[in-house]
Amino acid sequence: MTAELATRGITKSFGGVQALAECTLTAPSGQITGLIGPNGSGKTTLFNIITGYERPDAGQVFLGSQEITKAAPRRVFALGVGRTFQLTRIFPRLTVLENMLVPSGHLRGGPAGSPGQRNSAGGGRGHRERAMELLAFTGIDGLSGALAGTLSYGQRKLLELSYVLVADPAVVLLDEPAGGVNPSLVNHLADRISELNKAGRTFLIVEHNMDFVMGLCHQVTVLDYGTVIASGPPDLIRNDPRVLDAYLGSALLDAQAADEPAVDD
Ligand SMILES: Nc1ncnc2c1ncn2[C@@H]1O[C@H](COP(=O)(O)OP(=O)(O)OP(=O)(O)O)[C@@H](O)[C@H]1O
Ligand SMILES: [Mg+2]
Repeated sequence: MTAELATRGITKSFGGVQALAECTLTAPSGQITGLIGPNGSGKTTLFNIITGYERPDAGQVFLGSQEITKAAPRRVFALGVGRTFQLTRIFPRLTVLENMLVPSGHLRGGPAGSPGQRNSAGGGRGHRERAMELLAFTGIDGLSGALAGTLSYGQRKLLELSYVLVADPAVVLLDEPAGGVNPSLVNHLADRISELNKAGRTFLIVEHNMDFVMGLCHQVTVLDYGTVIASGPPDLIRNDPRVLDAYLGSALLDAQAADEPAVDD
């Protein structure tokens, strides 16, 4: 049901800032690939390029054998690539359930041309049931009637994951899915992603929570200054001196500092 996602030599500058330089990576079909790296290393820019929100200056994006470099976001979505955003894009004045119905075009007043409108045949009832199933799957069905604007940051992240699953994408890109999520829900989130993967979905996940990444991903690719500096299974990445130097050393120190009790002086 799924396809390999790959970038070849993606280069992108914003004015004088080079966000990506010859970035080549693969998210193999049916696997969970982690994409890690320091702040500003180009992870979100790469997601934007893959999903058609930004155009690269050079390089190509492939979904299986099909080149999708110039495809618009709607087209990429229609081809089965779903994504979440680092800063969630929910509708705060709609309820959680109403947010879920927006992509299927079954909420009156939903955004014109929302991608799911291709599915607009059929009754709204099935969509509602499916939406409630997905909310139960991610563990926020108890909040279906709440206004989305009242959700915590972590709950919004779970709503975004539920929302992206409405279209049943074969490939799912998640930008910091565990960021701000209550630690008790992070394991739940990892289990859900693992289940979705076992059912055949391919994932590419940007995340700074290293326990989450190393525990969940089959492969990890590391970006530094817009270039891939390492790629491989978690155990190899964890011990790679370049990765420790560029990112993991400081990420681990940050995690230790956060765990240490505050010192009174
Ligand atoms: N639209 C834009 N205009 C100008 N500069 C941008 C734009 N988008 C990204 N950049 C710059 O490109 C670089 C890469 O940013 P990007 O957001 O892709 O990093 P990131 O790896 O996702 O970082 P983080 O871990 O903090 O989310 C940064 O220097 C950023 O300031
Ligand atoms: Mg980012």
